[in-house]
Amino acid sequence: MKNNIVLIGFMGVGKGSVAREIVSQSGMIAVDTDDIIESMENRKIKKIFAEEGEPYFRALEKRVAKWLRNSVDNTLVSTGGGFYKVPKLREIGTVVLLHAPFETIYQRILDHPNAAKKLKKRPLFQEIDKAKALYDEREPQYMKMANIVIDVSGKDYETIAKEILKKTSRK
Ligand code: S3P
Repeated sequence: MKNNIVLIGFMGVGKGSVAREIVSQSGMIAVDTDDIIESMENRKIKKIFAEEGEPYFRALEKRVAKWLRNSVDNTLVSTGGGFYKVPKLREIGTVVLLHAPFETIYQRILDHPNAAKKLKKRPLFQEIDKAKALYDEREPQYMKMANIVIDVSGKDYETIAKEILKKTSRK
């Protein structure tokens, strides 16, 4: 098994912020699958969805997954909310699910000073009913894929990062 940590979970649950906190606590190198895809394509996720459609984006995620499997180790990998569907996800590393109820996630986004921007950049979070349906469909699948589940409700990023590093035996 590779020594990567792979953070999965729904849009807005805080994967990016938790990743930054893990980096500052552990000194691990981090990569983010959405950032890699934006660099590969030299355009934003929103634009890729609008110009090419979702299946094109999902194919890019599979390419990134293959690269991570073959070439990356000892790294913290934060992922987009749909990345968990790539083949052989667990071969990339220890899969850690950040879990919270949908209402908590949505409220967290709304409470953010950049809430409008955070919603606008996410093509699959444009309508709340559709986002909730997607959450309900995905949550059991996330649970199935996860080696470790972290309940993030009511916890700050520092606490969540500590818990992840402890449970993955990094600290
Ligand atoms: C997606 C989540 C997004 C991004 C894309 C699709 C999804 O990442 O990969 O918009 O299918 O849930 P975040 O989880 O960082 O918002």
